[in-house]
Amino acid sequence: MTEPELIVHFTAADAARDLRADVRAGLTGRPKWLTPKWLYDARGSELFERITGLPEYYQTRAEQRILRDRAIEIAELTGAGALVELGSGSSEKTRLLLDALRKTGTLREFVPLDVSESALRSAVAAIAADYPELRVRGVVGDFTAELAAVPAGRGRLVAFLGGTIGNFAPAERSRFLTAVRAALRPGEGLLLGTDLVKDPARLVRAYDDAAGVTAEFDRNVLRVLNRELGADFEPEAFEHVARWDQEQEWIEMRLRASRPMRVRVAGLDLIADFDAGEEIRTEISAKFRRSRVEAELAAAGFALTRWWLDDGEDFALSLATAV
Ligand code: SAH
Ligand code: TRP
Repeated sequence: MTEPELIVHFTAADAARDLRADVRAGLTGRPKWLTPKWLYDARGSELFERITGLPEYYQTRAEQRILRDRAIEIAELTGAGALVELGSGSSEKTRLLLDALRKTGTLREFVPLDVSESALRSAVAAIAADYPELRVRGVVGDFTAELAAVPAGRGRLVAFLGGTIGNFAPAERSRFLTAVRAALRPGEGLLLGTDLVKDPARLVRAYDDAAGVTAEFDRNVLRVLNRELGADFEPEAFEHVARWDQEQEWIEMRLRASRPMRVRVAGLDLIADFDAGEEIRTEISAKFRRSRVEAELAAAGFALTRWWLDDGEDFALSLATAV
């Protein structure tokens, strides 16, 4: 087996600098906000893996089923020589694509990119062990900044799974798709997973599960701030809130202060005061319809080639081609 490589584009120093800038802007803003990128330290990545197995969180299973049914078709349609996965996490579902591309025989290289070095390290080791013929190159990077680092190969397929595209605000989403398109040559592909608009009660449960794993995941960002910036948040004093925004068609997640609090962020020399009930926005998760996905892809220079749903029509996988 070829030894897997790990290329670190986003170093601990980059993370520290971005975290400081983000947290200063977010905690002095009104309303207060924090960027989701910081949810995924080692513990956050583990909590996310637990979310993917929760009964309320249908997305991972739905996407997995679509991939199981369509992987061979994807391999045949794309003939990909390199698979680049953005926000790859554990890359568990991706194995279905790797298996199919192994069968059709075109794949040479797998390039997972993630901001979470811990998740990436274990994924890269596991994939390299099980796919010894592949060159595996993990990139620790920020997918909003580092697409130029995507290696130029022949016949690349970029996969962006898990509905992670829904975590961008609309303007960021269009910037992101445009940057992905700019990194590709005409004819290369994008495989995009999007969660679909559905009964709001089900959506809210998917982001506020009965066992409280999602709440713990959301509050984990406060632990990251305590550790990395010497803040003194009491995570347990914040309640996790998931709300459906009907107009925007997204789930919005917030952390709500259960009482008035003064939080010191020693590393930033910053004091943040909270009123009782005041909320910090931590994440949005936009839900899609086909028309929107198709239009946004087209605006970025992609043609939608295939649109696949799971049997429950909960989740969509799109295959798009750079035009
Ligand atoms: N693709 C996996 C994981 C989805 S969770 C799945 O479908 O299950 C989102 C992943 O994106 C996490 O692994 C997280 O670490 C990563 N991530 C979040 N923000 C990121 C950023 N700005 N740049 C790179 N990776 C990021
Ligand atoms: N991309 C996932 C999603 O939007 C990430 C996610 C799942 C998430 N549950 C979460 C992010 C809870 C923050 C909080 O479904």
